[in-house]
Amino acid sequence: MKTFLSCVFLLLAYYAAAQPMTATHLLCEYLSNPIGIGENIPRLSWWDESQEKGTTQTAYQILVASSLGRLEKNTGDLWDSGKVATSETSLISYQGKPLTSRQTAFWKVRVWDERGRRSQFSTPAKWEEGLLSGSDWKAQWIGMPNLDLSKPDPSPYARTEFNAAKHILKARIYASALGVYDLYLNGKRVDDVKFNPGFTDYDHRVLYQTFDVTDLVKEGRNTVGIILGDGWYAGHVGGWDRQQYGKQPMGLVQMELEYSDHSRQIIASSSRWKVSPGPIISSDFMRGEVYDARKELPNWCANGYEDQTWANAMARPVDDIVPVASCSEPVRQWDTCRVKRISEPQTGVYVADLGQNMVGYARLKVQGSAGQTVKLRFAEMLNPDGTIYTANLRTATSTDTYTLKGGGIEIYEPSFTFHGFRYVEITGYPGKPTPDSLTGIVVGSATPNAGSFSCSNSMVNQLYHNIYWGQRSNYLSIPTDCPQRDERLGWMGDAEVFVRTATYNSQVGAFMTKWLNDVQDGQSPKGDFGDVSPRVHFFGTAPGAPAWGDAGVIVPFTIYEVYNDKRILARHYEAMKRWVEYVHGVTNGLLWEKVAGNDYSDWLNINEETPHDVVATAYFAHSTDLLARSASILGKIDEARKYKDLYGQIRQAFNTAFVTPDGRVKGDTQTAYLLVLEFNLIPEEMRPLAAKHLVEDIVTKRNTHLATGFLGAGFLNLVLSETGNNDLAYRLLLTETYPSWMYPIKNGATTIWERWDGWTKEKGFQTPVMNSFNHYSLGAVGRWLYADVGGIDLLPGSPGYKKFVIRPRPGKGLSWAKTSYDSIHGPIKSDWKAVGNNLFVDVEIPANTSAVVYIPASSSKAVTEAGVSALRAKNVSFLRMEKGAATFEVGSGSYRFESDRVTENP
Ligand code: BGC
Repeated sequence: MKTFLSCVFLLLAYYAAAQPMTATHLLCEYLSNPIGIGENIPRLSWWDESQEKGTTQTAYQILVASSLGRLEKNTGDLWDSGKVATSETSLISYQGKPLTSRQTAFWKVRVWDERGRRSQFSTPAKWEEGLLSGSDWKAQWIGMPNLDLSKPDPSPYARTEFNAAKHILKARIYASALGVYDLYLNGKRVDDVKFNPGFTDYDHRVLYQTFDVTDLVKEGRNTVGIILGDGWYAGHVGGWDRQQYGKQPMGLVQMELEYSDHSRQIIASSSRWKVSPGPIISSDFMRGEVYDARKELPNWCANGYEDQTWANAMARPVDDIVPVASCSEPVRQWDTCRVKRISEPQTGVYVADLGQNMVGYARLKVQGSAGQTVKLRFAEMLNPDGTIYTANLRTATSTDTYTLKGGGIEIYEPSFTFHGFRYVEITGYPGKPTPDSLTGIVVGSATPNAGSFSCSNSMVNQLYHNIYWGQRSNYLSIPTDCPQRDERLGWMGDAEVFVRTATYNSQVGAFMTKWLNDVQDGQSPKGDFGDVSPRVHFFGTAPGAPAWGDAGVIVPFTIYEVYNDKRILARHYEAMKRWVEYVHGVTNGLLWEKVAGNDYSDWLNINEETPHDVVATAYFAHSTDLLARSASILGKIDEARKYKDLYGQIRQAFNTAFVTPDGRVKGDTQTAYLLVLEFNLIPEEMRPLAAKHLVEDIVTKRNTHLATGFLGAGFLNLVLSETGNNDLAYRLLLTETYPSWMYPIKNGATTIWERWDGWTKEKGFQTPVMNSFNHYSLGAVGRWLYADVGGIDLLPGSPGYKKFVIRPRPGKGLSWAKTSYDSIHGPIKSDWKAVGNNLFVDVEIPANTSAVVYIPASSSKAVTEAGVSALRAKNVSFLRMEKGAATFEVGSGSYRFESDRVTENP
């Protein structure tokens, strides 16, 4: 009996282990089951998963069907890819029958592994096309008639009722606004998204969203409604006046019903819709929202509401601006901050501390009598007397005002504004507010989390937290510089220095796909990108500065590298080329010395200005290099050669003009050395010399401190680790005196500050003219935390983490670090722990990928995997000893390495 049972167990164990790989996490255009997409050749991705080690996919078959029923019968009536022999799993272009507007496509995939074993089909996924042609739009833009446009107007509520005569199979709403909108159906919010349709340059582009409202609509009578706010379109943008793009908000609603008999009905916004002002007296991103609950319109979106007194909407056709499908995650609430304490620095003036610098607004809970008004003002910091510090918000008055209707507990949260804050000043509150009176609602673009990092040092963990919060705060529809003062623009330099870190923290493929359209929209006919994207025309016509304009090349290339997204390169290649040609045209002997726009250079460095021509020419070379590589990836052989040659010539000119034979770079600054080392601008043999000068500057001139601004900060530790100065990188990381990453943390920072010394004990606040406490740029060191402390990085030449690097570089001050990253192929992990002289490294490599793993060791023999010599371990092949590390090529699966050394250079 015993033997029989063990045989059964053995068989079961064998069966479990022999489960071939499966395809999971199906995505379409980076999104899970998206609806209303604008791509008619969408791209499909999945993860391969397997319990076994060393597995690879050798083939896939994708089925795409027009109904779930057909898909279940394994009929790919739209596309049956057949068995395609490849290990590819990501961003695979649909190649089936042409897709039409509104079409739903159901799909699944099965895969074959290296032993030829075929998986089951995956769980089905789907996508749905949006309105692919301008002629699909029957709706008209609608707004409030006869407004006095010289002052902010109340938000219009617009409604209509309709009859759904038959049983409904499917209902969709396609909606947009010149402004921002909230959509309602039968009294309910259709979705809890915020600030749709998002920020674009409305002169060029406006987005629409698609909502599945099948569950909200009913046979018989229904009411659909929309509330509009000024948003970026008609409200204040940055520090400029309101109405930058248009005078008043307009909304667009097209509801489409498909009945069981397949007949269709469209309910489209038009002048027949009724509009009325409501309780939102005014709303503005910079100024805040004024809400008078006494003016609420109860049941305005219910059937039978008496709207006779409402006006007929002003309407105009869509032909002047045809909305295009949104392709990225909307803004949503992603966290909540509770009040930690409430103080009363002046009589009747209460200040609630949420304990975290956040972006969003406050949900207010209040009880009192009709007409009482509660005012909320928002701030990141406090004055020494405990009142809120708002000077750094400049003209952004960031004030929400709520007038009570009376008669019970009232809960209010604004619809069309957001603030960057940690503290909320409450005045006019009936009675004394308690921590329960207010809740911080945290919002941002709903980019899914991708990475995680933690280590043995709590201050470093706080730094990581601040970087993550900085990103989630500032990735709000577009990558902004800061969320609180009268700016909040898509600053290109900030986006460019931070993008690689951003890709580790969150899945930003869709977010950047959207934003890069804004970047391209902003390119001038001369080829220059702007300093900000969407390029706001009221900003002036100055061309993008070096490193700012270069975002138009660096960001698409980074997205390509991280996700192996060739289409992003293909779509932006011509724009990238125009930028490089534009810069080429303003250079003098290939040196970019003049006509450098606002020429911010190494912005906010610490008394160590890198010569502007060095910075500008370095970026010109770098963008040209990336352009040449893009051309080669896209198979443009001639242009690849042409730009490779140009890159070589710029490099040559750079060296002749700026570099001495002993490796000194003009300016002799940390950032000058960082740029030449990171962008590979000097001959190989001179790298150690340049690295030596860099170290000298940090250690000798600066007493082991950094002096970098926006451009150098993100490269500092990366370059130090890469040039054999990992110990110094750790010392800089852990330095607590000014200037350093830990200095703001010692001073209570919960997000990354714009300046190294935004506030100091000795001097108090930096100039209010420019002093944000939630600016991600200096947090670009996050890339180093993931890539070097954690050890997870791309392998050059292998985009999309198909084959990647695991190279943890422990250093003094940390005894362990745990890092994970969900790549487009699946989750990667690298956890290390130092115990005495021994290092333990646990790694996880997704199925169908492999890694080059570096383990610090005295020799290859000193490394074990799961207790046996790594030289004999399964799926592990020794490559070579390299700079104090044993390197192995490792197939997919989980491994535990142990070695006799903690660092590569003990
Ligand atoms: C922004 C920056 C931006 C800079 C240009 C500032 O006002 O907040 O982050 O890059 O201007 O120098």
